[in-house]
Amino acid sequence: MEFFLDTADTNEIKEALSWGILDGVTTNPSLVAKTGKTFEDVAQEIIKLVKGPVSIEAVATDTSNMLEEAREYATWGENVVIKVPMTPEGMKTVVTLTKEQIPTNVTLVFSANQALIAAKAGATYVSPFIGRLDDAGQNGLQILEDIVTIYDNYDFTTKVLAASLRHPIHVLEAAKIGSDVATIPINVMKQLFNHPLTDAGLKRFMEDWKKVPTKKKK
Ligand code: E4P
Repeated sequence: MEFFLDTADTNEIKEALSWGILDGVTTNPSLVAKTGKTFEDVAQEIIKLVKGPVSIEAVATDTSNMLEEAREYATWGENVVIKVPMTPEGMKTVVTLTKEQIPTNVTLVFSANQALIAAKAGATYVSPFIGRLDDAGQNGLQILEDIVTIYDNYDFTTKVLAASLRHPIHVLEAAKIGSDVATIPINVMKQLFNHPLTDAGLKRFMEDWKKVPTKKKK
C-alpha cells in the first residue's frame, strides 16, 4: 500500500520524507487555508519537495474553468494530480483530462456508485472519505471494501485512495481491504510507529546493556 501524507504543511512533509516511507501528498482547500500562504506558493513548494504524486484541488465548479485550472497546474510539475469533485461537471472534466493524460483524483466520494462513475470516467485515483462517512453514521470501511470489490470485478485501473483516515485502525483495515493508497495525517502516521511494548522493550535492553562488562584497556 502506498502512503500519502494528507497535508499542505511543508514542515510536516519534510519530516515524513525524512522517514523514507512517503510515496506522495494530498492537499485540499481547507489544508491550504491553514498554512496562511497563497495557493500558488504552497502548491509549488510541495510539488518541488515531493517526487511522488501531489494532489492539488481545482476549485471551479464548472467543467470549462476546472479544465483551465487543471491545465495550468499540470505545467507546475510532472507529479501534479488534479483533484476534481465528484459532480457531473467534475466527471466531464476527468474524461477530458484523461484524454490529455493529466492525472486526476476524484474527491468527496461517499458511495461505491460514485466510485464506479469515477472509474468509468477514467480517474487515476478515487478518494472515498472514510472518517467523514463514519461521522455521518455510515460504515466508511464497508464502502471502501465495496469499491475495491467493484474495481476488481471489472479490472478498473483507477487506484483506490482511502482518505479522511482518523486513526491507525482505519489504516490497518484499509490495508487489509486492499486499498491501493492511504492518505494519512501526520499525527496518525506517527501513531503507526508506536507500540508500548516496543518502548518498554527498548528501555529494558538499554538498561541491561549498561550491565554488560566492558573490555579492560591494556
Ligand atoms: C483527502 O484527500 C482529504 O484531503 C482528506 O483526507 C479529508 O480528511 P478530513 O475528513 O479529515 O478533512
